[in-house]
Amino acid sequence: MDSITLPPTSPEPTPHRTGSRFVRACLRLPVDTTPVWFLRQAGRYMPEYMAVRKHHSLLDICRTPEIAAEVTITAAERLGVDAAIIFADLLLPFTPMGLDFEFLAGEGPVVHAPIRTAEQVRALRTDRVDELAYVSHSIERVAAHFSSPRPDGDQLGIIGFCGAPFTLASYMIEGSSSRNYIETKKLMYASSLAGSPESTAWPLLMEKLVTVLTAYAQQQVEAGADVIQVFDSWAGALSVTDYREYCLPATTELVQRIRSLGVPVIYFGVDTASLLPTMRQTGADVLGLDWRTPLDQGWQSIGSGHAVQGNLDPITLFAPPEVLRTRVAEILTQAAGRPGHIFNLGHGIVPGTPVENVIQVVKWVRELSK
Ligand code: CP3
Repeated sequence: MDSITLPPTSPEPTPHRTGSRFVRACLRLPVDTTPVWFLRQAGRYMPEYMAVRKHHSLLDICRTPEIAAEVTITAAERLGVDAAIIFADLLLPFTPMGLDFEFLAGEGPVVHAPIRTAEQVRALRTDRVDELAYVSHSIERVAAHFSSPRPDGDQLGIIGFCGAPFTLASYMIEGSSSRNYIETKKLMYASSLAGSPESTAWPLLMEKLVTVLTAYAQQQVEAGADVIQVFDSWAGALSVTDYREYCLPATTELVQRIRSLGVPVIYFGVDTASLLPTMRQTGADVLGLDWRTPLDQGWQSIGSGHAVQGNLDPITLFAPPEVLRTRVAEILTQAAGRPGHIFNLGHGIVPGTPVENVIQVVKWVRELSK
C-alpha cells in the first residue's frame, strides 16, 4: 500500500471564475447541476471542425489563435457544455525544445529523429517556451468571448492543458504512438544502472519536460485558463512500481508547480485502475477516470479528498438512446451527488460519433443531476 500521505488539496479558489460550476466542482464546492464537458469535444466527429480542417492543417489551426479560438468556442457552444478546452495538441512544446514532428494522415504524430541517447536529451532546449505564445493568445480570445455568464447564470470554465512527462517522453522516444513502449522503458530502466552510458538520459529528460511544461502552463493561466488538465494518456502502460519509481516524482513536481499558480489541476490517464492511488500522490485536485473502472470504485480508491472526472465509455455514444441514457444515469448514481464530480467520457470522442448523441448526454446530465 502507499505510505506517503499528502496534505488535503484545495488551492485558493482561482480569481478567474468561481461563478463556474465546472471550476467549483474541481474545488469540491457545491454545484446546482453536475458540470459536463467531453475529452476531444472539438474534433473530427464534428462537421463544423471538418469544415475548418478542409482548409487548414491541424498544426495551422493550433498555431493561428483566431482559428483555434473559433474551433474551441464553436464546439463548446454547439454542445452546450460547461467548459471549453483550448484547441491545441500535446506535442506542440516539442518544436521550441528543438524536436521536429508532423502529423501524418492516418498515422498520427511522427517525430523524425526520436530521442534515444543522453546526448540528444542534453541538446533539448528549455529556453524558448515563449514561442508557444500562440496558445495563450487563443486562450485570451476564448476567455474574452466567454467573459459574461450564460443565460442560466453560470460562467463557462476554460481549460488549458499540457502533456505529462511520461506521455510526452514516450512520443519523443518512440517517435510515434506505441504498443509496447520498448525504447521508452529501455531509457527509463537505464537510469537505474549507474555508469551505463545512458543512465542520465531519463532523469534529465523528466527535468527538462517539467521546466518547459510549467512555463507553458503558466502562460496559459496568465492568459485566462481556469484549470489545467495534465494528460498522461499512456501512463497505463506502466506497472505501479515503475510508475512510482520513474514517473511519479516528475509528475508530482509538475502538478505542484501548476497548483502554486492558483489553479486546480486535473490529472488524466487511460487504463489506470491500478495506478489511481499512486496518481493521487501527485496532489492533483481532480483525477480523470477511464471507463474501465466503475466511478464509485475509482473514487473510493482515491479517497474523498479529491474530485473525479469521468467516465462514460466514448463508444457508448454509438448506442441506442435507452442504453446511452441508462449508462449516463448509472454514472450519476455512482457519483451520488457528492461534491467534486465532473461528468466526462473515459477517453476522447472518436470520429463518426453522432453529434446529436453528445448533445443529448449534456441534457441528460443536467436533468438527472438537478
Ligand atoms: O477538443 C479537444 O480535445 C481538441 C484539442 C486536442 C487535440 N489534441 C487536437 C487534435 C487535445 C486536448 C489533444 C490532446 C492530445 N494530443 C492527446 C491527449 C488526449 C488523449 O486523447 O489522450 C494526445 C495523446 C495527443 C497526440 C495526438 N494528436 C495524437 C495521438 C493524434 C492522432 C489521433 C488520431 O486519432 O488520429 C493527434 C491529432 C489530433 N489532435 C486531432 C485533434 C482534433 C485529430 C487529427 C486531425 O484533426 O487531423
